[in-house]
Amino acid sequence: MAHLIGKQVMLREYRESDYEHMRAWVNNPKIVATLSDIFLYPHSEKGTRKFLDMAMSSDWKGFVIAFKDTQEYIGQIDLIKVDQKNGWAELGIVIGYEEYQNRGYGTEALKLLCEFAFDELRLNRVELVCWSFNVQGRRAYEKVGFVQEGVRRQKRYRNGEFFDEICYGLLKEEWEARK
Ligand SMILES: CC(C)(COP(=O)(O)OP(=O)(O)OC[C@H]1O[C@@H](n2cnc3c(N)ncnc32)[C@H](O)[C@@H]1OP(=O)(O)O)[C@@H](O)C(=O)NCCC(=O)NCCS
Repeated sequence: MAHLIGKQVMLREYRESDYEHMRAWVNNPKIVATLSDIFLYPHSEKGTRKFLDMAMSSDWKGFVIAFKDTQEYIGQIDLIKVDQKNGWAELGIVIGYEEYQNRGYGTEALKLLCEFAFDELRLNRVELVCWSFNVQGRRAYEKVGFVQEGVRRQKRYRNGEFFDEICYGLLKEEWEARK
């Protein structure tokens, strides 16, 4: 898959050298707190290895988010489910270093992926879910144009409290209208 180049970041293929960067965040509670419960238990080296091998295979539909100038790993953005027949995909994203969050990299990566999904894969909608307490994620999605479509109430239990799951979607026509 070809590289997608933005202003500050690029989306590129997964590489063997990304392993250490992935290990640096997969067990960091500050990074994984807003991800799904697949991060409830610590991730083993074998588990990370398995994911990276899968992500380096030719049928993987995802990218590493990297600095444009150095191609160094910042995080990852993946189409975790693609329904080509009905024209939609679900995405997942993480910026793996706290110090690189809130700098606009996530928003830029989302825009690059949406452009790819609509203009190359000919998809009609891109969707994602996030937790109600993920304020920076929600802000990033809304900046790109994702529309809140629904709320699954009290879907996540965390720190002794229930939180809602928020469903977001972005249609191709909405994307085009914002360009
Ligand atoms: C969610 C995530 C991908 C967003 O990427 P990012 O690079 O940090 O996001 P951006 O910098 O592009 O945008 C974040 C926005 O949230 C804002 N923000 C951050 N903390 C905030 C808060 N407490 N309240 C309100 N807004 C907040 C930032 O100011 C920024 O908005 P602005 O550009 O208008 O100032 C990234 O933070 C991340 O990986 N988080 C951990 C994993 C995760 O939650 N993944 C998504 C699961 S659904």
